[in-house]
Amino acid sequence: MNEAIKPSPETSSQAASLPQLSVVVPTFNERDNVTVLYRRLDATLKDVSWEVIFVDDNSPDGTWDVVRALARKDSRVRCIRRIGRRGLSGACIEGILASSAPYAAVMDADLQHDESQLPRMVALLQSGEAELVVGSRYIEGYKADGFNKQRAGASAFATEIARRALKVEIADPMSGFFMIRRDRFEQLAPQLSTQGFKILLDVVATAEGKLRAVEIPYTFGARQHGESKLDSMVALDFLGLVLAKLTNDLISLRFILFAAVGGLGLVVHLTVLFIALELFKAPFPEAQATGAIVAMTSNFILNNFLTYRDQRLKGFGILRGLLLFYLVCSVGLLANVGVAFSVYDQEPIWWLAGAAGALMGVVWNYAMSGLFVWRKR
Ligand code: GDD
Ligand code: MN
Repeated sequence: MNEAIKPSPETSSQAASLPQLSVVVPTFNERDNVTVLYRRLDATLKDVSWEVIFVDDNSPDGTWDVVRALARKDSRVRCIRRIGRRGLSGACIEGILASSAPYAAVMDADLQHDESQLPRMVALLQSGEAELVVGSRYIEGYKADGFNKQRAGASAFATEIARRALKVEIADPMSGFFMIRRDRFEQLAPQLSTQGFKILLDVVATAEGKLRAVEIPYTFGARQHGESKLDSMVALDFLGLVLAKLTNDLISLRFILFAAVGGLGLVVHLTVLFIALELFKAPFPEAQATGAIVAMTSNFILNNFLTYRDQRLKGFGILRGLLLFYLVCSVGLLANVGVAFSVYDQEPIWWLAGAAGALMGVVWNYAMSGLFVWRKR
C-alpha cells in the first residue's frame, strides 16, 4: 500500500465501519418515500455496514431536500443532486461509481423492491458464488402485486427479445433491483448507455456472459406514494438499447428515428406540393417552397416530440430551435444537391446520385441538429 495513504491508528478504527454495501437509489419526485425507505434499510441491514446514495435529478418536489435532512442526521445517507440531467440509467451509474464500497445495490425509492432480500444478496456476493445478484420477478416463487397485466405482458415480450437478440441468459433482465461487485461494474461502466431505463440489461449484455449471475425471486410490491415515471416511450428506449448493442454502438436509435422522420417529411412535402399545384393552381416555385417549409416544420415538431424527447425544447426555445432547424436543413439541401450532382457527373445513374445526395443530406442534418438545435446543455 502507498505509504502516504496508510491508515493511522485512529483511522483504522474508522476503517472498520467503512461501508461494505452501498445502496444506490435513483429518485425523481419521491419525497414521500425516501424516509420510509431509509428506515427500512436501517431495520434490515443489521449485520452489514452500509450506506445509501440517493441520486436525485433535481426533483421539482424537493426530494433532495428531504434526503439532505436525513444526511445531516446520519452520515450513512448521501445525496447526489444532479442539475440539468434526467435519466434512470445515468443516475444509477453515477451513484455506483460514487461509492467505494465493494458491493453496490440498485433499487427503486418507491418501496416496490423488497429490501429484506439485501442481506442474502450480500452473502451471495461475499461467498464468491455470484458477481451479480438479480432480484427477479419471473422465476419460481415470484409474485407480482404491483404489476398490472398489460405491463407484465409488455415486459415479458421485451425480455424475450432481449434474450434472443442479445443472448442475455437471465430470466428478468428488466429488473430494477440488483446487486453487483463494484469492481466488476467499474470495468463495464465506460460501455454503458446513460440513457433510458434498462441499466441491468445493459450491464448483462455488455458483460457478454462473463458475469457470474444468480437470480433470487422477490415480491414486486405496489408503489407507496407518487407515480411511475415509465411511460409507453420506454419501449423506444428499449429498442434503442438493443440496436446499439447489436451494432456495437454504430447505429443509434436516434439516427434511425431522425431518418424516418426525414422520410416522412418527403411524403409531406410531395403532398403539399401536389395540393398547392392542383387545388390552388399555385406557380411551381411557390408551391415547392411551401412544401419545403411545411415539411421542415413538421419534421421539427416530430423530432422534438420523438427523436429528442429527452431533450425536448419548450417555450421560447421552440421558436429558436425551429429557425435553427430551417437553417440547418437549408444548408443540408445544398450539400444534398452538391453531392448528388458530383456523383451524377461521374456516373450518370439517377437513383444512385439521388440516394447519395439524400444520405448526405440526412447525415448532415442529423449531425448539425445534434450540435445546434437539440444540443446537450
Ligand atoms: N434520478 C432519476 N432520474 N431517477 C429516476 C428517473 C430519472 O430520470 N426516472 C425514474 N427515476 C427513479 C424513480 O424515482 C424510482 O425511484 C426509480 O427510478 C424507478 O422508477 P419508477 O417510475 O418507480 O419505475 P417503475 O416502478 O415503473 O419501473 C420499475 O420496474 C421496471 C421493470 O418493469 C423500475 O425498477 C425499472 O427500473 C424497471 O425496469
Ligand atoms: Mn417503481
